[in-house]
Amino acid sequence: MSTAFIPGSFDPFHLGHVDVVDQALELFESAVVGVLVNFEKPSGLFTPDERVDLARETLADRAGVTVRAFGGLAIDAAAEVGATAIAKGLRSAADYDIEQQMAHMNHSVTGIRTVFLPCRPDFGFVSSRFIREIASHGGRVEHLVSAPVAAALAGKFGSPST
Ligand code: PNS
Repeated sequence: MSTAFIPGSFDPFHLGHVDVVDQALELFESAVVGVLVNFEKPSGLFTPDERVDLARETLADRAGVTVRAFGGLAIDAAAEVGATAIAKGLRSAADYDIEQQMAHMNHSVTGIRTVFLPCRPDFGFVSSRFIREIASHGGRVEHLVSAPVAAALAGKFGSPST
C-alpha cells in the first residue's frame, strides 16, 4: 500500500493542511499525518496531544488517514510508518527554498523522496503562526480552521471579538 507521510508542527492544524491531506489521498492509498514535536522540551500553543486530537477531529470523515505525534527526525518517522514518500504542501517560493533543501537532505540520508503539493490558491496565505497571533488578539479565524480547532482557539483565548 502506498503511504504518504505528512510531517508538520500543526499548531494548529488548518484548512491549508486539510487541502494537503486531500491532495495526498488522490496520489497515495493512505496518509499518515505526523505531528513533529520535541518531547523533552514541548513548546507552542497546543500540546502534542491537543494537536493530534485536533487534526484527528478535523480529518475524522476521511478514510485512510491516521494522525500521530513523533519526536526526532521526519525521515525516522516516515520509515517507522513504512511511508512511500514524504508529502509537503508548498504555498510560495519561500516555502520551496526551505523545503527543497530539506527534501534533498532527507533523500541523501535515507533515499526517501519528497513530493511537493501546490497549495490551493485560496489557502496559500494561511499559516498556523498568523492564526495563533490573530486569535490571541481576539481576531476571527474560523473561516481558516475546522470547527474543532476554532472551538479550541476560543477555549484558549475566548470568543473572537472582531
Ligand atoms: O509545520 P512546519 O513547522 O513547517 O513543519 C516543519 C517540520 C516539523 C516538518 C520540519 O521542521 C521537520 O521535518 N522537523 C523534524 C526534524 C527533522 O527531520 N529535521 C531535519 C530536516 S532535513
